[in-house]
Amino acid sequence: MQQSFHYDEAFSRNIGWVTETEQQLLRTKRIAIAGLGGVGGSHLITLTRLGIGRFHISDLDTFELANFNRQAGASLSHIGRAKVDVLKELALDINPELDLCTFPEGIKQENLDAFLADVDLYIDGLDFFAIKARRAVFSACASKGIPAVTAAPLGMGVALLNFLPGNMTFEEYFQLEGHAENEQLLRFLLGLSPAMLQMGYLVDDSRVDLNAHKGPSTPMACELCAGMAASQAVKILLHRGKVASAPRGLHFDAYHNKFTSTWRPGGNNNPLQKLTLGIARKRLGRRSSKITKETDARSLDTPISRILDLARWAPSGDNTQPWRFEIQDKTHFLVHAHDTRDNCVYDLDGHASQTAVGALLETIAIAATAEGLAASFHRRQDASETAPQIEVTLTESSEIETDPLYPYIRARVTQRRGFASTSLTNKQKQALEASVTPGYRVIWVEGYPRKWQMAKLLFQNARIRLTIPEAYQVHKRVIEWDAQYSIDRIPDQAVGLDPVALKLMRWAMKSWERVRMLNRYFAGTLMPRIQLDLLPALQCGAHFVLISDKRLETIGDYLTGGRALQRFWLTATKLGLQFQPELTPLIFSRYQASSINFTQNRKTIQSAVKLASQLKTLTGQQDIEQMVFIGRVGIGETPFARSLRKPLDYLT
Ligand SMILES: Cc1cc2nc3c(=O)[nH]c(=O)nc-3n(C[C@H](O)[C@H](O)[C@H](O)COP(=O)(O)O)c2cc1C
Repeated sequence: MQQSFHYDEAFSRNIGWVTETEQQLLRTKRIAIAGLGGVGGSHLITLTRLGIGRFHISDLDTFELANFNRQAGASLSHIGRAKVDVLKELALDINPELDLCTFPEGIKQENLDAFLADVDLYIDGLDFFAIKARRAVFSACASKGIPAVTAAPLGMGVALLNFLPGNMTFEEYFQLEGHAENEQLLRFLLGLSPAMLQMGYLVDDSRVDLNAHKGPSTPMACELCAGMAASQAVKILLHRGKVASAPRGLHFDAYHNKFTSTWRPGGNNNPLQKLTLGIARKRLGRRSSKITKETDARSLDTPISRILDLARWAPSGDNTQPWRFEIQDKTHFLVHAHDTRDNCVYDLDGHASQTAVGALLETIAIAATAEGLAASFHRRQDASETAPQIEVTLTESSEIETDPLYPYIRARVTQRRGFASTSLTNKQKQALEASVTPGYRVIWVEGYPRKWQMAKLLFQNARIRLTIPEAYQVHKRVIEWDAQYSIDRIPDQAVGLDPVALKLMRWAMKSWERVRMLNRYFAGTLMPRIQLDLLPALQCGAHFVLISDKRLETIGDYLTGGRALQRFWLTATKLGLQFQPELTPLIFSRYQASSINFTQNRKTIQSAVKLASQLKTLTGQQDIEQMVFIGRVGIGETPFARSLRKPLDYLT
């Protein structure tokens, strides 16, 4: 049924915050909005609901899928349609009496006069990177005496500046004249948000690409922009008291729960701004983004490519990713694995690598279920022991259901910092115990006294780790410095040390002599052992030992052990628990159990003997040779730094 439209009734719920007279005034106002992307479309819808009666809107783009996260009007039925047309329809559907004029050719010098004719207020909706057009509009607004507002979506917040007639202009504030485009963009960003409240939670800086004119943007920020700009519009259009005007700005960050009003007399010429700009320039110059772009989803056009793209997220010791893939046909591929026993003291007889390959196979099997496929594995007997090859066959079956662990493959992560020491609930423990394949079971080390025993064991074990040259070589190789992410190693920020200890470690790791000197004269192992082993061992819900019913003897035993481990780890992720492997005590104990010397240092070998016996005591005299994995789990924060993976192109 066609409902007839009545302006007064449609916008009656604004009354109270605006008077009836003011509402009628708003109805007569004309607002120009250039750009109908992330913020522009929301501006139009919000201002229409505010009861503004007249608009000039411009945009030369059409809607595409990549607009869906944030743009008003972006939906399947609007793909390929001009944004001005769609938004005009949406706005008219709210207020059919609107006087709305579109500028589908975008903003150009030639149409600026028409675009700003009889306009009471300009609200900026231009793309962040459209700096030339933005300068042109703001300059025209200044010369025509039109107030202009820019609200920028930054992170999960909004930074807003008003440029009011007679006050500082856009150009005076930002000081863009005569600078190269990238410098202009930097000046625009820092001028918009001198407080930089959005810093600190950009989790993937590779998505900011000044050269490609691309940056991330959240829907929350766009909505906040629309809300804040419309509130300014009310004040400006209705002369409702003092409005902050550049060089004063407003910044609200909903993520950090912070609001600040900024004041930068002289704009970007302000000494404080100049200093900030200098620092930002340096940082930008140094920036080498550690996240490589993920494979374009559109290129993952076969089940095998999708399965492998997920499988590569399986865990491996020191993120070595000891595997490559050879795709043979639509239903067959080969996993070329290798171990690192020749250059890694932790890879005794290749067992750690084999466990990781097992985790990879389980991930393949889980990922395959989402494609309606069952994966079966056959290890080639003719391949060498150090470079196992596994043939994978995918079989279609209508009975296969997506494995419930499938959504957690990418989210699974190693957290090396402390968790809460809250014990696991029985339900959590039961779910974890039930996750491992038959033939395996879980032993828990929980409760303060037992956790303390484990902490002492790990503390002593860490002394071995940090004092043998064989391990030093490994640590030197596997840490990526100054990194939040690393595609082929462990980023230093994910190691679990505080910044001071990290700096010291970086200095020491330059040479074995430095490490020895620190260890001998300054108790150099103490701080890392406390931060990386002792405290985290207490700060967890429980430690676990994953045990096989029989001794692990063949490569196949370690592969199946790795499969059980991956189900256990993914289940922990599903339960929202954090997880860290604690494998090195088991490795040193195994060396001892197999009578293999892992170092020249006799005293250290003696320590390993003690370690093995403590581990046995702690686990109720379990056989070291049956232990697949040791680690800790608990409630905690997702790590802000993590290892990533080599791209699929590289692995195939
Ligand atoms: C067999 C194996 C042994 C591991 N040993 C340890 C360990 O002793 N300590 C540790 O902090 N992480 C250990 N890890 C975790 C890896 O370093 C981690 O999985 C890898 O860096 C990838 O990072 P992600 O798990 O965050 O994706 C181990 C992983 C595997 C598969």
